[in-house]
Parts: sequence; C-alpha cells; structure tokens
Amino acid sequence: MVSKPDITVKFCKLELENPFLLSSAPPTCTGEMIMRAFEEGWAGAVTKTIKPDKTPVYDLDNRFGIMGFEDKQMILFENIEEVTKRPVGTWVKEIKEVKKKFPDKILIGSLMAEPKEEDWEELARTISEAGVDMLELNLGCPHGMPERGMGAFCGQRPDLIDRLTRAAKRTSSVPVMVKLTPNVTDIALMAQSAEKAGADAISAINTVLGLIGINIDTFEPMPTVDGKSTFGGMSGPGVKPIGQRCVAQIAQATNIPVSGIGGVTTWRDAVEYLLVGANNVQVCTAVMWRGYRIVADMIDGLTNYLSDRGFSSVKDIAGKTLPKLTAWGKLNKDYEVVATINKDLCIKCGLCYVACRDGGYQAIKFEQGKAAEVDEEKCDACALCTLICPVPNCTTWKRVKK
Ligand SMILES: Cc1cc2nc3c(=O)[nH]c(=O)nc-3n(C[C@H](O)[C@H](O)[C@H](O)COP(=O)(O)O)c2cc1C
Repeated sequence: MVSKPDITVKFCKLELENPFLLSSAPPTCTGEMIMRAFEEGWAGAVTKTIKPDKTPVYDLDNRFGIMGFEDKQMILFENIEEVTKRPVGTWVKEIKEVKKKFPDKILIGSLMAEPKEEDWEELARTISEAGVDMLELNLGCPHGMPERGMGAFCGQRPDLIDRLTRAAKRTSSVPVMVKLTPNVTDIALMAQSAEKAGADAISAINTVLGLIGINIDTFEPMPTVDGKSTFGGMSGPGVKPIGQRCVAQIAQATNIPVSGIGGVTTWRDAVEYLLVGANNVQVCTAVMWRGYRIVADMIDGLTNYLSDRGFSSVKDIAGKTLPKLTAWGKLNKDYEVVATINKDLCIKCGLCYVACRDGGYQAIKFEQGKAAEVDEEKCDACALCTLICPVPNCTTWKRVKK
C-alpha cells in the first residue's frame, strides 16, 4: 500500500493534475461550462469543435437517442449533433478567460474545417494564439459533417489526414493532436499517417456510426426529426470495447501518446484504458448523464486502486497490458481447461445447462432441484457457462493436462 500515489500525468510536455479530461462535446460548449468543470476537478477539457465562421452548422430537433439493456437505462447513446454554432471570435474571448482563471488546467481547442489547407492553417493559428495548450483536429465526426467533406470524411483517408495535420502544424504555436474515427478498416494505418505528418498525439475514438433504434409502431428510425432520421454517432458504455481496441492498436503501431476516449464511465474504465496504452482519458456521455461531479469518484477510485496495489504513480501501470495482447496465431494452443461447478454455491437455476445444451457442447448435466455437473469428457472449454452463471465463483474452470 502506497500512502499517496502520484496521479499526475505528463502529456506532450503538459502537466495534467490527473488523467481525466472532458472530451469535445456538449459539456464543453462554452467557457462558463468548462470553468465549472474545472472547479469540480477535471484536469483539462477539449472545447466543443470550433469551425470557420463561413461554415454553416445546423442542429436538428431532436438529435439524441439511447439504447438500454436489462437493468441498465442506457448502455449506448446516439447523437446527430454537429459542431459548435458559436463564432470563432466568441471562442477566442472565452479561451482567454478560461486560461486566465485556470492557468494550470489544460485547455485544448478542437478544430474542424473543409479539407482546404488554408482554412486549417488559419483556424489553427487563431485558436492556438488565443492561448489554448494544445489543438485537437476533429477528423472523426461521422454524421452531418462528412456529407459536407468534413469530420470522418477526412479521417477515413490517409492522404487527407496527412495534408490537414501538416497544415495545422505549420501555423499552430502549440502541440497538435489528431482525433480519429473508429469507422475505418484499419485505425492503426490512420494513426501512422498522422504521426508521419508530425502529429504530437492521437485521440481515439470519436463516435461509432450506428442506428440506435426503430419505433416499431410508427416505423420511424430514432432520433426522429419530423418522422425521419439518419445514421448517427454512438457513444457511452457500449462503445468501450471498440475504443479500447482502437487505443491498443494505435499504441502498438505508433510512438506518440494516445488520449483514450469511448465509454469511460468510472475509474475502472479509465484504468483499463491506461493499461492498454492511453496516456489519459476523455469523457463525454457519462458527464452528460450524471454531471461534472463524477470526476471526484474517478480521482478517488484511481488513487485507491494504485495505493492498494502498491503502485506509486500512474506511470507504473502505463501500457501494462500491451505485451499481453498478441496475434490470435500466437496464443497457446496447448493451454487446456475444463469447466467446474461448485456444488455448494450452485443455486440450481439451470442457466448454465440451457446455455451449454443449446449454445455449447451438451456437457452440463442438470436435474431440477440438484446442482449442475460438468461432464469433463464432453466439455470443450468455451467458458460460456462461466459467463452466464449468476453466482460469483460458482462456475469457473480448472487447468487440465492435454
Ligand atoms: C452529443 C455529442 C456531441 C459531440 N460533439 C463532438 C464534437 O463537437 N467534436 C468532437 O470531436 N467529438 C464530439 N463528440 C464525441 C465525443 O467527444 C466522444 O469522442 C464520444 O462521445 C465518445 O466518448 P464517450 O463514450 O465518453 O461519450 C460528441 C459526442 C456526443 C455524444
């Protein structure tokens, strides 16, 4: 046990007081909102994406949808919102105010423009000179903007990632981070394009393109805008596995720091991102759902996790899982286990029996009122029963010799 682990993080020469940042989204829509978030303990914030004044933005009514599952009210959130409607001049003024009041917090300016190098050069110059600590290039928004040649339209093409990153780097007075979309075949390739073009960091992921649901009475897709909808960007707890996969792939393929985004809701999610190579995490949906105050629990949880396990700083766990992530072909084919059921813990619900009978190898014997039993000869060690068993430590597996 370490009394007070160090949770500060160095990110492109910037000092973060903790690894928790707000991502570019509704919680960072104004300077006033960002300052309230800083008061609650967030180490930094990425502004809602700023675009040139000449680019029109339309926010549709309405623009959000959710998907729940079993006892969870929301596991996926979907939006078809665009970038900020506020003029560049307003942002310049508010960036100055935020930095004056909170000089030690990290303020990152998120940018988007059409794929014209001169537009990116001008926006990068203006916003970096306003006093942000870093820029984030939004090459990932998957709805609305790509139809007009922006967002994911650029992030899905290595040549545009290269050109626009170089354009922003030419005029920016601060480090430049490139925010990528997961809606590509190979995100590592996109990250390498950004790195080659001089990006100082990568952030991933922006939202995952989806169709959150259909009203089966009216046949209308959601979120419904006067009876119709479009494909939207999904975020929240359900996208965490995609975000983590992307962050791990980027960390394995590049030598620049990664800011991990996607479904971070608790300190545990953050720890997982740090373990797969993220330098810090960004949060949006969890804050839209529960408010800025969730950062207090994240800071406590991370501090206790490090302290309980004897780690003295966040650095001690950085990327610890990466060496354990390998190609399928390199996994141990001689590793063999069978399922085992603890008779004393079994509540005789039969869930493992049904799953194994209809989705597995018919290796579980079960009679009403009696504990389930594994037929080791038939068990193919898929582990489905261990996942469906509702009782902790009841259905597990044991190693056997081949
Ligand atoms: C309503 C909404 C608006 C968003 N607007 C932006 C934006 O303007 N710029 C941007 O880079 N990402 C935007 N995002 C994406 C988030 O910054 C983040 O990448 C994504 O939501 C995944 O993180 P989460 O699961 O913590 O929400 C938006 C997300 C939501 C839900």
